Amino acid sequence: MDVVERGQRVKKRGRFFVLEGIDGAGTTTQVARLRDRLAQHGLSVRSTCEPSQGPVGAMIRQVLSGRIVLPGRQAPGWATMALLFAADRLDHVDAEIAPYVADGGIVISDRYDASSLAYQSVTSGGDDGAIDWIRSLNRYAMRPDLTVVLDVGSERAAERRSARGQAAELYERNEVQQALAIFYRNLPSHMPTDRIVVLDGAGSIDEVTERILALLMPLIEAP
Ligand SMILES: Nc1ncnc2c1ncn2[C@@H]1O[C@H](COP(=O)(O)OP(=O)(O)O)[C@@H](O)[C@H]1O
Ligand SMILES: [Mg+2]
Repeated sequence: MDVVERGQRVKKRGRFFVLEGIDGAGTTTQVARLRDRLAQHGLSVRSTCEPSQGPVGAMIRQVLSGRIVLPGRQAPGWATMALLFAADRLDHVDAEIAPYVADGGIVISDRYDASSLAYQSVTSGGDDGAIDWIRSLNRYAMRPDLTVVLDVGSERAAERRSARGQAAELYERNEVQQALAIFYRNLPSHMPTDRIVVLDGAGSIDEVTERILALLMPLIEAP
């Protein structure tokens, strides 16, 4: 009886995957597609996103949409944003990611700490210490099994955003998006200890889904 119980407890650890990219790269579209495709394979999978659905995530969304501003109507600065995103991330891991992965499930997140490194460092105005400081804020955030960057040029992404037709948010200015596209292309050099693939995000939605699945399936099937 004891042996059986122990045997049942030895479950395969789940997987944690992250999609990243500039605004309009297609991460939200692809996370939903991947979740559906993996579920069709009979896998336990859930999708999530950052800012998360938790309490700190709700506050960040109000900053991004311009609902929360400083006196004088300015948006909070990059360092405040880095702290909010890092707090949201640890809450997100504890509440939604780690328990599911520990139970053998697959979690796919639309953005994670690479977004903090990218967005807050690009908007830091060239502060030399920004990247190291943001990295240290995220030191205790669980590492993904794989981060996939959807590499899409800022012009194509802007076209996709305008087709999506939502109000522009805090970071959606073209200069910021151009700098983000470069940062994301070089992401492996900014996160050298993580497993990161920069993938061509041009092409149809179906083509991109197939490209990402070709990366994820071997990792899912590995023991
Ligand atoms: N591969 C693609 N080709 C053409 N349009 C796309 C592609 N991927 C996404 N889109 C469209 O572009 C818009 C932005 O996609 P979305 O997934 O919201 O981007 P993100 O979440 O990265 O900002 C949406 O209207 C979506 O339908
Ligand atoms: Mg999105």
